[in-house]
Formats: sequence, structure tokens, C-alpha cells
Amino acid sequence: MRLLVTGGCGFIGSNFIRHILHAHPDDRVTNLDKLTYAGNPENVRDLERDSRYAFIRGDICDPEIVDRAAKDADAIINFAAETHVDRSLLDPGAFIKTDVDGTRILLEAARRYGHQRYIQISTDEVYGSTAGAPFVETDLLHPSSPYAASKAGGDLMALAYAATYGVPVIITRASNNFGPYQYPEKLIPLFITNAIDDQPLPLYGDGLNVRDWLAVEDHCEAVDVVLRKGTIGEIYNVGGGNERNNLEITEMILRGLNKPKSLIKPVADRPGHDRRYALNADKLAALGFRPRRRFDDALRATIDWYRTHESWWRPIKSGEFRAYYETQYGQRS
Ligand code: NAD
Ligand code: TYD
Repeated sequence: MRLLVTGGCGFIGSNFIRHILHAHPDDRVTNLDKLTYAGNPENVRDLERDSRYAFIRGDICDPEIVDRAAKDADAIINFAAETHVDRSLLDPGAFIKTDVDGTRILLEAARRYGHQRYIQISTDEVYGSTAGAPFVETDLLHPSSPYAASKAGGDLMALAYAATYGVPVIITRASNNFGPYQYPEKLIPLFITNAIDDQPLPLYGDGLNVRDWLAVEDHCEAVDVVLRKGTIGEIYNVGGGNERNNLEITEMILRGLNKPKSLIKPVADRPGHDRRYALNADKLAALGFRPRRRFDDALRATIDWYRTHESWWRPIKSGEFRAYYETQYGQRS
């Protein structure tokens, strides 16, 4: 297949392209990425010499660039998004632009060129928080943050294009990913890299919010299965089956790095902070997919990756990230 992958210089998109080129020797991938603060050419540096891979720098909100990138593709997989909840509290407009309107522009291209598949990569955050049973795909959407609301808007736009124009849409909703190449604004890479430097780990609120954790490699394999075996018009939850609270994650990271618990710094809670995310992934299991990685092993491998890839994350943390961190965490302490 000829795939147009958007957001392929980000965390999950770069892992996905690497997976595709490894698993499917006949596939070709075009990566369309705007290179926002989160897009990093280093994430795909090892792929540049592969003749099956091409990169276009561009914005999914730009119809002309999208048209050029989409013309020769068989399928679009849309990873491009503004993705960080805390940033969405500072600047919701950027999220609506990319996550809703950018999605619409990609869907227009899929409509125009009659692609075989349009895969919208979404998140469990669109369902909001649950105190009870894990969410199923038919549950109501109840987003709490501007990020989650804009992702929900993208999902609904995709479903509308499927119903109205027959675009062959499939939506995946995954739980919290972790692994190599994750921008160190998110919990796990932020806490690993801060702990390596003996810096405080800013734990929001009481630290007991629960997330379901999914190794990024498992997520990539799930999207590949959905791309090839999923039913058009359907939504698939991609859960990790690893519910942990933030304090447990923090203590695992500190143990893994042999660092003291005194690095934990309780800070003001995130406004609108969802208490618990949990997914029922039976529908995806019926396609034959289950995550393969054990959580403890994958977290240990992630800690090792950050320990051995300081040349990847140190430039990030001393660049754009520094001003963001001071704004974000200055307000919380
Ligand atoms: P990321 O922030 O690491 O990367 C996003 C990428 O999209 C970057 O390369 C960025 O440059 C690019 N991008 C942003 N705006 C763009 C635009 N207008 N045009 C073109 N490119 C643009 O994000 P991620 O964690 O890799 O997430 C990828 C997708 O997976 C997102 O849609 C996100 O909502 C979804 N998702 C993420 C998680 C998670 O835990 N990280 C979980 C479930 C779903
Ligand atoms: P995050 O990685 O931002 O993912 P999301 O909010 O999309 O689930 O946060 C994961 C959890 O960790 C969430 O409950 C918020 C919490 N958290 C902290 O306690 N401190 C931090 O510095 C960050 C970034 C997150």
C-alpha cells in the first residue's frame, strides 16, 4: 500500500512509520508533518535513506499541500494533532485549528481521491472520565479539556464525512502511550528525564489519577491491524489493560533509576483533570489483536531508552521546552 501518514515526525507517528517499513516491505510511506514544537526530524533520521520513505514539510490545514501529498496515496493515517492537555489549557485555538479543521481538510482529500481507507487516530480522552466500567465504542463522548474536545470534534467530522460522502473512515481510540521518542512534556518522559537530572517530579493533585498505559509499539501494531482488517465506518478502542495511578508510575520510575522519593513534588492540580481513563478493547480483540508487551518490561525499556538517548532529549529540554516548562510549572508551584 501507499500510505500518507500525517504527523510522522511526532512520537507515535514516527514509531508507526518505522513499524510499517519493517513489517511491510512493499509499502511506501509519505510523511506530511508541519514540524511544530513536537515534530522532530531526529525521530525519523534512520528512515531517510529508505527509498520507500518520503517527507513533505507542511500543514494539514493547507489544502494545496494536502492535495499534493494525498494524490497518489491508497490510504491516509492521520496522527497529526496538537496533543498536550496542559498546552490546550493555555491556547485552545491551535487545537481546534489542527485537530478539527485539519482533519476536515484531510477528509476532503480522501473524498476527492477515493482512498481505500482513512484512519483517524483518536484517544480515550474523548470519552472523559469513568468511575465504573471501561468505555465501549458506543459510549457518549464527554471531553473535559480543549484537547479532548477538539479530538472529539475530529472524530465527529470523520464520521460525518463517512455518512455524507462515503469516505471509508475508521477511527481508533487509544489509551496513554509511552515509549521511545515521546516529547518530554508528557508524564513518563518528563519524570524520567527530570529524575535523571535529580530535578523535582511535579505530581498533580493527590497523584491518584488513573491512566491505562499502552506501549507505543503495541499501538502501532494495532493501527496496522485496523488499517488492513478493520471494518469501514467502525470505531476501535485500543487499550493497554494497564491501569495505574500516577503515584505508582512515579515510584516505578524512581525505583528504575535508583532515585529517592524525595524528588516527588506535589503541585497544584490540573484544572478539569480527568480522574480515570479505562477502555474496553474487546472489539479490537475480535480482529485478532491484543497488546504483546508486559507493562513492567516496556516501562523498564523506556527508562533505558531515555537513559541511553540523552543526545535526543537534552536539546529539546534546553530549547523550546524550557520556556514552556517555566510558564506551566511556575503557575503550579
Ligand atoms: P506528538 O505531539 O508527539 O506529535 C504530533 C505530530 O503532529 C508532530 O510531529 C507535529 O509536528 C505534527 N503536527 C501538529 N500539527 C500539525 C499540522 N497542523 N500539520 C501537520 N503536522 C502537524 O503526538 P503523539 O503523541 O505522537 O500523538 C499522535 C496522535 O495520536 C494524535 O492524534 C493524538 O491525539 C493521538 N493519541 C496520542 C496518545 C498519546 O498517549 N500520546 C494516545 C492516544 C491517541
Ligand atoms: P499526560 O502525560 O499529560 O497525559 P494525559 O493528560 O493526556 O493523560 O498526563 C498523564 C497523567 O499524569 C495525568 O493524570 C496528569 C499527570 N501529570 C502530572 O501529575 N504531572 C505532570 O507534570 C504531567 C505532565 C502529568
